[in-house]
Amino acid sequence: MVSHTTLFDKYVKLKPGDYIMNPQFLRLEKEMKFTVREDDVYISTYPRSGTTWTQEITWCIMHNADLEAAKAKTLMERSFFYEWDYLFPLEEGQPLPEIVLKMDPNSIVFPGNTAPAMEKSESPRLIKTHLPMSLMPEEARTKKVIYVARNPKDVCISYYHHMLHFEEYIGSFDEFVEYFLADLLLWSPHWRHVVEHWKLREMPNMLFLTYEELHQDIRGCISKISDFVGCPLTDDQTEAIVEHTSFDLMKSNKSVNMENIDDMMGLKTQEFIRQGKAGGWRARLTHEQNCHFNEYIQEHLAETGLYFPET
Ligand code: A3P
Repeated sequence: MVSHTTLFDKYVKLKPGDYIMNPQFLRLEKEMKFTVREDDVYISTYPRSGTTWTQEITWCIMHNADLEAAKAKTLMERSFFYEWDYLFPLEEGQPLPEIVLKMDPNSIVFPGNTAPAMEKSESPRLIKTHLPMSLMPEEARTKKVIYVARNPKDVCISYYHHMLHFEEYIGSFDEFVEYFLADLLLWSPHWRHVVEHWKLREMPNMLFLTYEELHQDIRGCISKISDFVGCPLTDDQTEAIVEHTSFDLMKSNKSVNMENIDDMMGLKTQEFIRQGKAGGWRARLTHEQNCHFNEYIQEHLAETGLYFPET
């Protein structure tokens, strides 16, 4: 496999679990000032699995469907990204990466600002992470966790667009598929991430959802989340959240579509919320790639009983 990018060279395998990690994450546990709170709610996902959608739904549920408050602040300020401060190499003496130089130092997005904001934030906090719960602080693993999985074919395509956009990936799509299937991407293996949480799905502190389920039965999912976080909704509130988190409204909603980050970094594509389909892979994967994915699913997921309707 020929790499057209040095992107993957900076990643390491982090024990336990052999997940592919940014080496910065090794500093997380030692250095980050983070105190787990009793009423924290975590949303854990492999990237591009419906994190943002679920975050916005859950935040609205936890805040009495106050959509005006939801629109008034960006999602990153309302629901923190746990490992964000460590996504960029900021070792002492090292020059800041170009992407960081473009950021506003006062913004939550500037690396180093998230951890203190999380500490100061009111409870209950809603915290996003792409770290599997096995790599989160031990205490956090006993708190409420919403895990969202998505079929690997759509995840891979969505991840590719994300890397093109945010991470300046310059390889081809076909190569990206190979990287995904070879478990070389950050936070991979996808299957390990999903299976780890699938095994915990019966735990009282775990709610396991899928992106496909959100598509098929959004009201059912909202009801599950509202029961899980203990915040009941009226029917009107449920309908308001369904509308507020519909694909079209989220795509044009500046508080969730990451447009502010795009603007800050001078990016033009505005594609964080991109296509929003379950089964979009049908228009993108070749027959051969689809067969490779089916083998991957057969090898890693078939025995678990986990089935994604759109694969
Ligand atoms: P696509 O790239 O396939 O469109 P994450 O938030 O975990 O990064 O996931 C991003 C994926 O969720 C993207 O998938 C994005 O378009 C999709 N998404 C975000 N909001 C959505 C919504 N309200 N409805 C459907 N899909 C949504």
